[in-house]
Amino acid sequence: MTLDELKQYARERYIPVMADETKKLLFETVRERMPRRILEIGTAIGYSGIVMLSASPLATLNTVELSESAAAQARKNFAEWNMSERVNVFVGDAREIVPQLTGKYDFVFLDGPKGQYETFFPYLTELLEKGGTLVCDNVLYKGLVEHVPEDKRHKHITVARNMRAFLLGITSDARYSTTLYRVGDGVTVSTKLV
Ligand SMILES: C[S@@+](CC[C@H](N)C(=O)[O-])C[C@H]1O[C@@H](n2cnc3c(N)ncnc32)[C@H](O)[C@@H]1O
Repeated sequence: MTLDELKQYARERYIPVMADETKKLLFETVRERMPRRILEIGTAIGYSGIVMLSASPLATLNTVELSESAAAQARKNFAEWNMSERVNVFVGDAREIVPQLTGKYDFVFLDGPKGQYETFFPYLTELLEKGGTLVCDNVLYKGLVEHVPEDKRHKHITVARNMRAFLLGITSDARYSTTLYRVGDGVTVSTKLV
């Protein structure tokens, strides 16, 4: 299967995978920075993991996924791409798993539960080494982060509010240099300065 076929497979089954422009940005960012230890929150079926490992051939990946079935499919896909030895898939709630992680990473891709980015941020900051990169997807969340709907019952409003707080926090955090890219659902690329 090619990456495009994998994307097709996912979309036909309503499995979320990142937008094409986001994939391009992620690939180019990883290719430029060549990380060796990558952490990902939100594996889905491994599409973004395969993108990152393809861009940095010496990297290893620890990736966390809540859904057992998605994680099982991800393991199969990593095997098909001959990447199994470079990947650990942790199955469970990232809110429980991430605080238990130790060691240092030089690249983190945050693409998990949308309303929770602020919860992960202190842990990810601790895990990320100086000079490391934090990429966060969906930070503009369907456009709702910048244009909060009038209807307060809007089902996405809590997520949008949380994401807005996260985005304001990370872009004003002196420990990071952050660029917001208006591609896909909005992506930040942050370099940890300290
Ligand atoms: C947008 S998808 C990830 C897409 C993937 N990164 C890609 O582009 O190929 C988000 C994933 O996060 C997972 N997820 C949601 N809540 C989670 C949680 N609390 N802990 C771990 N994973 C979670 C979902 O099951 C879903 O597979």
